[in-house]
Amino acid sequence: MGIGYVLCSAAGLLLLLLPPSRPQAPTGNVGPQWRDDEVHFNRTLDSILVPRVVGSRGHQQVREYLVQSLNGLGFQTEVDEFKQRVPVFGELTFANVVGTINPQAQNFLALSCHYDSKYFPNDPGFVGATDSAVPCAILLNTAKTLSGYLQKEFRNRNDVGLMLIFFDGEEAFKDWTEADSVYGSKHLASKLARTRSGSQTAGQVRQGPRNIDRIEVLVLLDLIGARNPQFSSFYENTHGLHSALVQIEKSLRSAGKLEGKNNMFLSRASGGLVDDDHRPFLDENVPVLHVVATPFPEVWHTPRDNAANLHWPSIRNFNRIFRNFVYEYLIRHTAPVDLRFH
Ligand SMILES: *[C@@H]1O[C@H](CO)[C@@H](O)[C@H](O)[C@H]1NC(C)=O
Ligand SMILES: [Zn+2]
Repeated sequence: MGIGYVLCSAAGLLLLLLPPSRPQAPTGNVGPQWRDDEVHFNRTLDSILVPRVVGSRGHQQVREYLVQSLNGLGFQTEVDEFKQRVPVFGELTFANVVGTINPQAQNFLALSCHYDSKYFPNDPGFVGATDSAVPCAILLNTAKTLSGYLQKEFRNRNDVGLMLIFFDGEEAFKDWTEADSVYGSKHLASKLARTRSGSQTAGQVRQGPRNIDRIEVLVLLDLIGARNPQFSSFYENTHGLHSALVQIEKSLRSAGKLEGKNNMFLSRASGGLVDDDHRPFLDENVPVLHVVATPFPEVWHTPRDNAANLHWPSIRNFNRIFRNFVYEYLIRHTAPVDLRFH
């Protein structure tokens, strides 16, 4: 994450607005009791929680680990590799890692995070625990704990697929600007906007929609893992989905399934926006559910954003809420969900 708030005037209004096609959105009911797998979460986090500045050895290792983990969880995995010149380092090789279940499906629920860590010239040990090792571990743990559903009942659905996107190069190398930030997501969004689904068989071209238009919602996790985070709603067209998170948290809490007593999902609109990997997707009118803690964790972009300062009850609660949200989205999905601005 680069900068803080950009002013947004629509604030208080958002609560009143519901997305146009609500029927398929999760309602906050809690499904079967998906079990925690914290052994998997810890192992995953350990593998990601190393300095992983683009171009470093740790970066290459984490990239390989993500591919291997996704394959192991039954995803079809692609690496979107490209070279680009950047401040400080010159030309670097970037690689977004994308795993998909049901790649042939009409539309997708896309869950995302960034896996690069920020370069600090005077802090080579920076590991970015909340930024964004924990969010990436949450995505893999979600897939792992739901694998009984994802690998069986969910497989071969034609209406919806699940995409896990690990963006590269979110962080600025020098100062956060539109140019010096979100390198990976700019590359992937532009690629998805230039390619289409559809097959070319024996001279017959059947052109489908642009691939980027097949993403029903891009869920972006960032800055998660510190004590008692607060998540507000940022975009009116995904406010219904944010409300589902609020409701799921309430249901789990009243069922005694959460630790502590602070709610992290607030049923209120944010007073501002946070610039992040979703920017190039927003520019293509992809609905975005931005799950980023505001205020930012106090360890943000400091050497203290490390394992020692993670807050486990908050991480456990997030994992439980988020996996129920993903399950509900997929299980309730029957027809295309159109949350785009028209
Ligand atoms: C995962 O790691 C945290 C922090 O070290 C620890 O408190 C927790 O007990 C671990 N969980 C398991 C299942 O080992
Ligand atoms: Zn950052």
